[in-house]
Amino acid sequence: MSITVLGIESSCDDTSAAVIRDGILLSNVIASQSVHEEYGGVVPELASRAHQQNIVPVVASALKRAGIDKNELSAIAFTRGPGLLGSLLVGTSFAKGLSLGLRCPLVDVNHLHGHVLSHFIKHNEDDVVPEYPFLTLLVSGGNSQLILVRAYNDMEILGQTIDDAAGEAFDKCAKVMGLPYPGGPHIDRLAAEGDASRFQFAKPRIPGLDYSFSGLKTSFLYTLRDAVASDPDFVKANMADLAASLQRTIIEILMQKLEKAVKLTGVKTVAIGGGVSANSGVRQAVADFCKARGLKAFIPERAFTTDNAAMVAIAGYYKYLDGKFCRYDEVPFARLTV
Ligand code: KG4
Repeated sequence: MSITVLGIESSCDDTSAAVIRDGILLSNVIASQSVHEEYGGVVPELASRAHQQNIVPVVASALKRAGIDKNELSAIAFTRGPGLLGSLLVGTSFAKGLSLGLRCPLVDVNHLHGHVLSHFIKHNEDDVVPEYPFLTLLVSGGNSQLILVRAYNDMEILGQTIDDAAGEAFDKCAKVMGLPYPGGPHIDRLAAEGDASRFQFAKPRIPGLDYSFSGLKTSFLYTLRDAVASDPDFVKANMADLAASLQRTIIEILMQKLEKAVKLTGVKTVAIGGGVSANSGVRQAVADFCKARGLKAFIPERAFTTDNAAMVAIAGYYKYLDGKFCRYDEVPFARLTV
């Protein structure tokens, strides 16, 4: 018998619903919220209100695109955390209501597990998925983590940022350059035309596998401040070189610890995930790194790098197969680790 899972994601500013049948993606609908653009960041209260408006049409559209009726669902999977509490509450409450109404099981999903497991979303039967154990570099607006994945439900954080995440470094530096939020994709675009060796920024020297991006951010700020003092048009005139140099530095920081983690664990497979894994430079660096060492690289489709319900549905699918269901009195968590 087929297992059909509806995934619901509402942890931040994307309302998403997806349907997965026996591990194969049937639909993945994402409604992004443009309401935050003018504020330079996500406004939590506006995010939860937008989720409330979006969730019914988004779920209806995911079912329609999948060509299934809601009564065919085997389980409803939803993001329980981490994320913005108000946003999480919308998805959680909707998932509970639908699960009760349809009398089908409810499965809670850790958003971070979703990012890690996004490589298991298949479009066809013969799509290749990672073999355990593998290492994931999870890089997003809120996380920079190196995770050893032994099984769908057995993940260990080997290292993580002690201050800013890689995405924050992109976004905050982009902000001082006058770029819109989120700045990461703009830096990516500009970097393609810039000289990456033009500027040197500080790199952290912390032991182990932990990351740090706040020193880079400060050094970037000081470079701009000093340069603008003598030439007010400095940023405008050097956009591409600044972006390329910033991106190169972030990638070097990420790759240094990734290399260390690969050596320590001896894994044969490396995957990346999270919003920053959409970055062209990061994707190329990881692909080159793996190729040079004979490792298998899993680089996600861009649609699965940012928040999406397909990854929630696949994580929920594995939990469902394992009989791990969620009670109706369970609540969302703003903070949740792997
Ligand atoms: O995983 P994600 O969608 O959600 C949060 O953690 O909030 O990641 C968002 C982050 C933002 O910091 C954004 O600037 C970054 O991912 N990002 C990128 C690119 N696309 C998204 N950073 C660099 N290059 C990109 N192409």
